[in-house]
Amino acid sequence: MDARQLKIEAARVALDHVETGMKLGVGSGSTAEEFVRLLAERVESGLRIEAVPTSERTAGLCVELGVPIFSLDEVPQLDLTIDGADEVDGDLQVIKGGGGALLREKIVACASDTVIVIADESKVVDVLGRFPLPIEVNVFGLTATRNAIEQAAGSLGLSGPVDLRKDRDVPFETDGGHHILDASFGRIPDAEALARALQDIPGVVEHGLFLDIVSVAIIAGSSGVRTMKNEGSQNR
Ligand code: 5RP
Repeated sequence: MDARQLKIEAARVALDHVETGMKLGVGSGSTAEEFVRLLAERVESGLRIEAVPTSERTAGLCVELGVPIFSLDEVPQLDLTIDGADEVDGDLQVIKGGGGALLREKIVACASDTVIVIADESKVVDVLGRFPLPIEVNVFGLTATRNAIEQAAGSLGLSGPVDLRKDRDVPFETDGGHHILDASFGRIPDAEALARALQDIPGVVEHGLFLDIVSVAIIAGSSGVRTMKNEGSQNR
């Protein structure tokens, strides 16, 4: 099965968790987009949902395919969010933000009763950190913020390049008008400590560590789709 087919399989299983009448957060990235395509088919055949997209790109796809969208201000509490992931560990701690939508994704996830991530097997790791950690930062004082991130990471024994994400030759701009620093620290043994340290830096808007937020991960591999659960997540 090719990579796209695995994404579709994970999305198809996630769709089973969607019920009519739900207020539904809809994630970003290529796997989430497969979910939107399947969701649109169900909407066309009568499923009623109110979708809150986590990015302008996802919003555009929803509109194009006829999925009714609302802002999080119109629908501030959600039953379920389904989103992709860049990395998932065995405790369902997750890195997100590879597509640059981590801030809205985290706001939407934290406004949801349940968060499900969908991914292919390649995203599952023993310890987070193989994927460079996306950190959304204010454009003001970027160098000072980067220095503070390096210092905070260093105090936890972490080091590595912290690169400004570029889109062609210019800095990538998020939907919120911020930049992204991708931090290649390698293995992050204490993700909670790093998350706390990053939150304390004023120029950091949000980071891609989604800790105790995800309650179900639907993982598609060549031998089938498996579901991992975290009963201890904040959002259940
Ligand atoms: C966007 C995200 C995506 O969900 C994540 O990057 C996974 O994307 P894909 O499904 O394309 O691998 O966090 O900010």
